[in-house]
Amino acid sequence: MPRTLDAETRRALAERVRYCHELGIYDFYRREPTSVVTDPTLSPAIQSELREEMSPRKAAAVRVVEEDRILEIVSPKPEYGVGDPVAALKLIREDLGDCTRCKLHKQGRKQIVFGVGNPRAELMFVGEGPGADEDAQGEPFVGRAGQLLNNMIKAMGLRREDVYIANVVKCRPPGNRTPEPDECETCSPFLMRQIAVIKPKVVVALGATAAKNLLAMNSSLGELRGRFYDFKPAGVRSSDPSWPGARLAVTYHPAYLLRDPRQKGETWKDLQMVMKYLGIEPPKKAAEVVG
Ligand code: URA
Repeated sequence: MPRTLDAETRRALAERVRYCHELGIYDFYRREPTSVVTDPTLSPAIQSELREEMSPRKAAAVRVVEEDRILEIVSPKPEYGVGDPVAALKLIREDLGDCTRCKLHKQGRKQIVFGVGNPRAELMFVGEGPGADEDAQGEPFVGRAGQLLNNMIKAMGLRREDVYIANVVKCRPPGNRTPEPDECETCSPFLMRQIAVIKPKVVVALGATAAKNLLAMNSSLGELRGRFYDFKPAGVRSSDPSWPGARLAVTYHPAYLLRDPRQKGETWKDLQMVMKYLGIEPPKKAAEVVG
């Protein structure tokens, strides 16, 4: 349906887009409500309860998907049609430029922290935003939390360079505060585009900020973790129409684990769920590496 809009709808849409451009709004995104992938090993009663939980969102989902598709058509991105993820990521980085789209650009950031890793990664980790070390080095997760994330990746039998790592916001919030909703809204479309280019099988949201922004859900981390969600980056098109989207898992942020190491065991369970799905055998003594 979206590719055969009638002439009047097209005209109205073009008018609307022109109006937004006049206001300085160039990017259009709508969040797609997320569906839960129920674990077949759970009892039928629990599976049905989980599905019930999502049902009020379903009708809205259909509408939002349609709107997303329309916005994809009227707001094409430079990387669309570029099959090579290295080139496509470069185009996204160029589009980001020396970004001044939100207030973080004038609140002491040294540089933009775009993302790092394998542009064809099957597994992607998404954190909240750069801290002081990341801001200084221009790479996500290079401080103490990054060391722990590296250990988690190693415990999974992977290397840091096998995965892709990015954040919801690409500039350091002052004093490492949590990024504000308007900052996440402005920046996360670039993350969505990165995900659409990389086409991972699994995205792991590290902590509540990443989880809430990716899933557009406002539940607590404890409620969100422990299961997979179907995930398609909102408002963007993948270069590969056959990419079915990723599964998304939520776990604790490594910085939180540094403060409360008791949750490492739960984190390891989340990572094991991811490994099982990806068919990864953990090396021996893996859980000790996380610790
Ligand atoms: N915390 C994050 O969320 N991201 C980083 O890159 C570093 C610390």
